Amino acid sequence: MNVNGQPYRTIWTDPDHPGRVRIIDQRWLPHRFVIEDIGSVEEMAEAIAGMHVRGAGLIGAAAGYGMYLAALGAASATNPEECLQQAARRLKATRPTAVNLAWAVDRQLQAMEPASDAEERIRLARETAAAIADEDAAFCRRIGEHGLELIREISRARNGQPVNILTHCNAGWLAFVDHGSATAPIYAAHDAGLPVHVWVDETRPRNQGAQLTAWELGQHGVPHTVIADNAGGHLMQHGRVDLVITGTDRTTAAGDVANKIGTYLKALAARDNDVPFYVALPSSSFDWSLQDGISGIPIEERDPEEVRLVQGLLDGRIESVLVTPPESPAANFAFGVTPARLVTALITERGICRADRQAIAGMFPDHVTEG
Ligand code: MRU
Repeated sequence: MNVNGQPYRTIWTDPDHPGRVRIIDQRWLPHRFVIEDIGSVEEMAEAIAGMHVRGAGLIGAAAGYGMYLAALGAASATNPEECLQQAARRLKATRPTAVNLAWAVDRQLQAMEPASDAEERIRLARETAAAIADEDAAFCRRIGEHGLELIREISRARNGQPVNILTHCNAGWLAFVDHGSATAPIYAAHDAGLPVHVWVDETRPRNQGAQLTAWELGQHGVPHTVIADNAGGHLMQHGRVDLVITGTDRTTAAGDVANKIGTYLKALAARDNDVPFYVALPSSSFDWSLQDGISGIPIEERDPEEVRLVQGLLDGRIESVLVTPPESPAANFAFGVTPARLVTALITERGICRADRQAIAGMFPDHVTEG
């Protein structure tokens, strides 16, 4: 997608320094556009844990490149195999909820297995990291094509009046390698000339909606309005939301969806108001081994300081300010599970399917057998 008219992905290798991976450091958006160089698996692990990069697809791609950096590091190690296993453990421990992370690490370990020497291991890891990233971008583009048809139908029913879409958190191109999952249909509709307007949940505590989704929609010229997290139900009651599209960090084979905290409440409000609630995901965000999301999906608890403090621009500087009484404790549950029964359908790279075991198995027969 474009930043100030220039095309970017969220992660790439420096063409002049193949041992350097470049990322957009999302901690400073929307106020500063910062590119960070990552040169070791430890730096990549810190970038993932510290949310320089974030979002399910991008975390997966970052883990893929992290394992490539590990392969480079392992070339001079006395026990390269142990070195890779250590890197895999380090990367997997950074964030628990998005399944793409472990999926990408395991894919890398498998890809490197047949290597007979360090050179071949590095080549395989580099190719696999690139394949994970390219696939992520391609799958998101296809999610856009399938989702476009849904928006087109609603646009027709609205006689060309703008289609109002509510989204939560950032499942945009910043959360993937390109296009995004929830935003891909929105970009596709906007590019096809369909009038759309996006209600952007601010998404406390880290405000990925207000800071990231609003920024990227603005960069692409998509009309949008940032709303307080709790406004969605009110807008739905007044007929001002035509559909909800969110992303997911992990979805079970039965269609339970883990996503940023607050998503479940949007799904409840949507059901109460007959507003369709869609979840967009590439197949790398399915956890084929899990049947029940509420008991099975690990929910990340992050530093309570993220709840107590809010970051923003103050006199030209990015600052954090305290919003709670200094002595009040806080808790920071980062994700929650929306049960499949509240999800109208899943928008995947293969098409749109009901959020239930049978429909998912019908669309992904090759994967379901893994579970
Ligand atoms: O904690 P984050 O910012 O990594 O959260 C992940 C997300 O961006 C959301 O949960 C998103 O809606 C799904 S990931 C594409």
